[in-house]
Amino acid sequence: MNNTMPSQPQLPAPEFFYGTAWKEDRTPLLTELALRMGFRAIDTANQRRHYFEAGVGQGLAAAYRSGLVTRDDVFLQTKFTYQRGQDDRLPYDPEATLSAQVAQSIASSLEHLGTDHVDSYVLHGPSSSYDWTADDAEVWDAMRKERNAGRARLLGVSNISLRHLQMMAAERAELPAFVQNRSYAHFGWDREVRKFCREHNIVYQGFSLLTANQEVLKHPLITELTTADPAANATPAQIVFRFARSIGILPLTGTTSALHMKQDLASYDLVLPPDAVNAIESLAG
Ligand SMILES: NC(=O)c1ccc[n+]([C@@H]2O[C@H](COP(=O)([O-])OP(=O)(O)OC[C@H]3O[C@@H](n4cnc5c(N)ncnc54)[C@H](OP(=O)(O)O)[C@@H]3O)[C@@H](O)[C@H]2O)c1
Repeated sequence: MNNTMPSQPQLPAPEFFYGTAWKEDRTPLLTELALRMGFRAIDTANQRRHYFEAGVGQGLAAAYRSGLVTRDDVFLQTKFTYQRGQDDRLPYDPEATLSAQVAQSIASSLEHLGTDHVDSYVLHGPSSSYDWTADDAEVWDAMRKERNAGRARLLGVSNISLRHLQMMAAERAELPAFVQNRSYAHFGWDREVRKFCREHNIVYQGFSLLTANQEVLKHPLITELTTADPAANATPAQIVFRFARSIGILPLTGTTSALHMKQDLASYDLVLPPDAVNAIESLAG
């Protein structure tokens, strides 16, 4: 590969991800409920420690059976996770090469999800928190092969630093279509990584928007904004999701509540006063 280039022709990105981590036996019902409430993008991982990917597949199957959605209506995203991020329930042979582990992991994901392709395939986290390593390059190449073979449409990386991304660019590796990171208000909502993403046409997905930013949810500015439009009757969580969208973050929510699912999706209809976005962006960092 001679040029740094974005992975894949750009497809329309979804508007809001429903995240399926930490739901265990409730995964099938909550996945189906999220689709019923209007979510059309599902995030999971072939990492049994935190996700029940086969349960996501069960929820999807129930939604297809009842005619709620078809496979084409849903944007499915899953991940490859290194062994050190897993427990002993591995979706691959740990003795196999990393390339073979990627092939085994995605084959298992497709079986779990009852599909022949995922819309986005994400490296859950690089092998080192500091460098983009030779192992990452091997895994990324294997992921590109899966994409080129049609088993994934777009590729992403998660838990990634600006340094990792800069190293990928310096090595002229193909850049991801997605970055999925925890978005801390006190780091300007991951400002530096978001800037890199903007400059390289990468869609930034943000998680822990609520859980990592409890101080923001309670901040007087947010409280004030919830009453800015009395007709909207907004909640602090909705203000945060609307704000995130305004600065180009594609949000994830893993709510287990039907009401919150509805509110999270409805946050898109809120109108924030013109200077509110800048004010929230620099609230904590
Ligand atoms: N790539 C990674 O390493 C990584 C790491 C973490 C997460 N993720 C992905 O991101 C997804 C979301 O995870 P998260 O870390 O953002 O946390 P989360 O699981 O979405 O937790 C959100 C919390 O906020 C509450 N909540 C949601 N909507 C609300 C609303 N409208 N009003 C009030 N409370 C609300 C939820 O409570 P209720 O259930 O009561 O609504 C829950 O306690 C995960 O499921 C996973 O798919 C990825």
